[in-house]
Amino acid sequence: MKVVTTIAELKHYVHQAKKEQKSIGLVPTMGYLHDGHLTLARTAKAENDIVIMSIFVNPTQFGPNEDFESYPRDLPRDTELAKSAGVDLIFAPSVEEMYPSDGGIKLVAGRQSTILCGASRPGHFDGVVQVVAKLFHLAEPTRAYFGQKDAQQVAIIETMVRDFNFPLEITTIPIVREEDGLAKSSRNVYLSEQERAEAPAIFAALNLAKAHFLQTKNAEEAIALAEKHITENTAGRIDYLQFLSYPDLAVVTPQTEKFLLAVAVYVGKTRLIDNLIFSLKGE
Ligand code: PAJ
Repeated sequence: MKVVTTIAELKHYVHQAKKEQKSIGLVPTMGYLHDGHLTLARTAKAENDIVIMSIFVNPTQFGPNEDFESYPRDLPRDTELAKSAGVDLIFAPSVEEMYPSDGGIKLVAGRQSTILCGASRPGHFDGVVQVVAKLFHLAEPTRAYFGQKDAQQVAIIETMVRDFNFPLEITTIPIVREEDGLAKSSRNVYLSEQERAEAPAIFAALNLAKAHFLQTKNAEEAIALAEKHITENTAGRIDYLQFLSYPDLAVVTPQTEKFLLAVAVYVGKTRLIDNLIFSLKGE
């Protein structure tokens, strides 16, 4: 496995792979890898000749008061883990390498980015589509891999791929969880022992709400149940807890076939997100 830090090296590698007609799976990450990222890599490996993983803590998707500086980073550890998951090339550029110009040209993520995480993190998804569009141009993947953990992110990237005609396929994998149900996240390392012990209540609350909704079709009651479970079992503050249609992220109507039940909770200073996606049959 190779680790490269410059665009020139990445492009050289991609050019060679294309000449050999190899399919490329791209796994974009911000590093501090856990089993969610590694499952993406293993899935990509099973479906492509070559797997490229990017590791880049992207400053343009962090707000001024967010955790860009303190976001956990450990490239030597990530390198070992990525290798064990079958990654062929890591692209780990510096901020200067990714953003050399100050021309001010921006991508804007659109309607799907104004709600949920976009409402509490203004500009976040503009930064995500900016970096993902650049990675798509640079790695020229046959397929790109994303986690359902960030369901809104996937929906927005799928829209970008469709609207801007990127010649690639998006694959989504289910949320990888700890044994007690907490969704794996690089940010879980921020949690104190007490917070970590409380955090699984978030997933439990989503399951309660889903079960109630499927039985009664009453979204308001289902949300109230989940809110109660979170406030009674954690010291967390709910940022949002909402049913939407998926993947368009619109208000639920009687015609809605696929539901996204999404939550964000501040547990201490750490913002945790989780979600369930299901049909009326419960799948
Ligand atoms: P990051 O948070 O590092 O996540 C990288 C990828 O791993 C994303 O597609 C995310 O959805 C997926 N992932 C994270 N935790 C997961 C889990 N528990 N189960 C399944 N998949 C999981 O998302 C980003 O980075 C950035 O926004 C990025 C797309 C790289 C752009 O900067």
